This record gives sequence, C-alpha cells and structure tokens, in this order.
Amino acid sequence: KKTAVLISGRGSNMGALISAAMDPNYPAEIALVLSNRPDAKGLERAVEFGIPTAVVDHHDFSGDREAFERAVDAVLKDRKIDLVALAGFMRILTPYLVNSWSGRMINIHPALLPSFKGLATHERALEEGVKVHGATVHFVSAEMDDGPIIIQGAVPVLDADTPDSLAARVLKVEHTIYPKALKLIASGKTKIADSRVLSGNPDL
Ligand code: GRF
Repeated sequence: KKTAVLISGRGSNMGALISAAMDPNYPAEIALVLSNRPDAKGLERAVEFGIPTAVVDHHDFSGDREAFERAVDAVLKDRKIDLVALAGFMRILTPYLVNSWSGRMINIHPALLPSFKGLATHERALEEGVKVHGATVHFVSAEMDDGPIIIQGAVPVLDADTPDSLAARVLKVEHTIYPKALKLIASGKTKIADSRVLSGNPDL
C-alpha cells in the first residue's frame, strides 16, 4: 500500500516508518512525506532516505483550513496514495480531510488515549501523578485525538521523571508501535467492529 507520512517537525516517527518499510516483506511503501512547514527537519531526513517530499504550507491559505486540506488532498490523490500516517502533523483537521480518508488515515498520539488528548501530554501526566503512561496509534476521526485504537504501548512513570525524560521513554515506544500499526492496517489484518479495532495480538 502506498503510504504518505504527514509531518510538521523533526520526523522521528516518520523515520521509524521509513526504516520499517525498507524490509521487502513490509506491506506498506512510504511513497511520500508531506509537510505543512517548509522548514520541517523531517523533510531533510526524508530526502536522505530518497523518499519523495511535498510541502503544502498552511500559511498560503489565509486561515482557510478546508482550502489547505483540499490542496493536501490533491497532492495525495495525485501521488496515488492509499494510506495516510500522521506523524507529528500539527494541524487540526476538518471533516473534509477526515471524511475523505476515513478508515485510511492513522495518527500517533503521545499518551494512552483517551487520557491526555491534545498538547503537553507528558507535563500533564506528571502533574496528575499517573504511574503508567505511553502512546497510542488510532484511526483519525472527526474529534481530535479520538477514533478507534489500533495499538498502545505503555511505559512506567518514574519519580525522578521530567517531561523530557518521560517524553524520551514514550518516544521509543512510539517508534516500535507505529510501524506495527501501519503493518496491521496495510496488510488488512485489522477490522473495525462497533467503532473498535480488532487486531488480534499485534506482536504476532
Ligand atoms: C510525537 O511525540 C508524536 O506522538 C506527536 O508529536 C511528536 C512528533 O515527533 N504527535 P516526531 O516528529 O515524530 O519526531
């Protein structure tokens, strides 16, 4: 399956997906990296990997979110993309893009959803004193950081943690669960039933 990775920043999850997809048996090909920021560090990494890149700068659409999304959608369709993986793509999506990629767009969120939707998840996890934290890959639905959960990975929260140390521990988990989730989706081994994803054991 031809997969586009949408980024806004450093692109470490994008890198994990690209690395996984280098295995000839992996069912997804990273066919495009698209950024809404021309200066995203991840674009340079994608070029180093030899992956085609595109930029659709949201500043060019004077606040019209749907016009921005129409432009993104046009690039995805032009490149014959089958699946979209959001990886640190820092735009709130409208129903336009969500509906046009329904069941074919996934996201990674640095928390165990449905806890800690939105930003600053690690700070908030420490403030709340949770003892287990983690990351979630889920299908994208109209609500932000919502939608059927595909895989979660958990880490312990340690007394000495800072937001940065916790973020680093969670990020390692992100880099393992995101390629597994994309593999499940691209190979068609998952199904959605009653708004849930039934994937069996993702480690198999
Ligand atoms: C990750 O923590 C991801 O979960 C969140 O934004 C961060 C992006 O990091 N949505 P990177 O660009 O993949 O390195």
